[in-house]
Amino acid sequence: MGKDIYILGIESSCDETAAAVVRNGREVLSNVISSQIDTHQKFGGVVPEIASRKHIENIMPVIDEALNKANVTLAQIDAIAVTYGPGLVGALLVGLSAAKALAWANKIPLIGVNHLEGHVFANFLNDQTLEPPFLALVVSGGHTALMKVLSYNSFELLGQTRDDAAGEAFDKIARVMGLPYPGGPEIEKLAKAGNPEAIDFPRAMLDEKFQFSFSGMKSAVINYLHKEEQGKRDVNKADVAASFQKAIVDVLVQKTVLALKATGLKEVVLAGGVSANNTLQNELAKAAEKVGARLVHPTPILCTDNAVMIACRGYYLHQAGVKSPLELNANPGLKLE
Ligand code: KG4
Ligand code: ZN
Repeated sequence: MGKDIYILGIESSCDETAAAVVRNGREVLSNVISSQIDTHQKFGGVVPEIASRKHIENIMPVIDEALNKANVTLAQIDAIAVTYGPGLVGALLVGLSAAKALAWANKIPLIGVNHLEGHVFANFLNDQTLEPPFLALVVSGGHTALMKVLSYNSFELLGQTRDDAAGEAFDKIARVMGLPYPGGPEIEKLAKAGNPEAIDFPRAMLDEKFQFSFSGMKSAVINYLHKEEQGKRDVNKADVAASFQKAIVDVLVQKTVLALKATGLKEVVLAGGVSANNTLQNELAKAAEKVGARLVHPTPILCTDNAVMIACRGYYLHQAGVKSPLELNANPGLKLE
């Protein structure tokens, strides 16, 4: 065993200011997350200007706390891994500027990380035996995609959503139903008391095998709610939540199984905020097992935004000799490829 490698991860792409220290890629020494959810809930969603300002207030205390909890100093850090996209540009710039300043002042290599790849790498922390190749279903607030992870540093995108992301659909339906932001966990809670077979919302399967579309399903739910309201009928919100959740999960599971069959891969991981959904985890685990594959998903705290996953992704880039220039800019529209 060679020298231990310490990576400081920094994440500020949306409404969580986060920093973490990870040793040798898979050992979490600290995981600090300062969430702004309470602030944004008053507005029913993330307000970019407010997010940037909160990140500025929180970024240095969060980084200090991550180093303190890990009991390491900057002198021991081998590289600083930071999210540079995708996300809100003003939010990204706060974490990125802090990372660059620390990297420059302390002569530590800087490594820019794609937030979505970070979500995929969150799985390595939960399952120490997991190794590429495997399939990944990325389901976050802004993205829905199926991807082959061929090795630690090469990925192949199989397909993504044409319109809304899965998390976005959860958030929009929750909003129409008067539930607080973020909508995913609220819908999941409400769905527990409902009947998933009560309402048959449409599932768009599309001709392109690995593409998704959730806008039709979203409109169907909104139309249903309006019609019931106009007819002055009482809506069973729990049934709506359960039926909508089932419709989304059905599409995600069916497409993922198609991809498992087409690629012959024997492991699939969940990535992004929606991977915290228990119905998705359970249904996908069952369906994967039927085709001889195994599901891995992150622990709840690593499903949503965090810096551990950024540090883990950074570790494997560091091992491959990747470094970013200090001119690295935020890229709000950064893609998975
Ligand atoms: O990955 P994430 O924390 O931020 C982005 O990178 O977008 O994902 C946030 C998304 C939100 O749309 C949120 O509603 C959804 O993940 N989400 C969930 C659950 N927890 C978070 N959706 C369904 N069920 C959940 N339990
Ligand atoms: Zn995310």
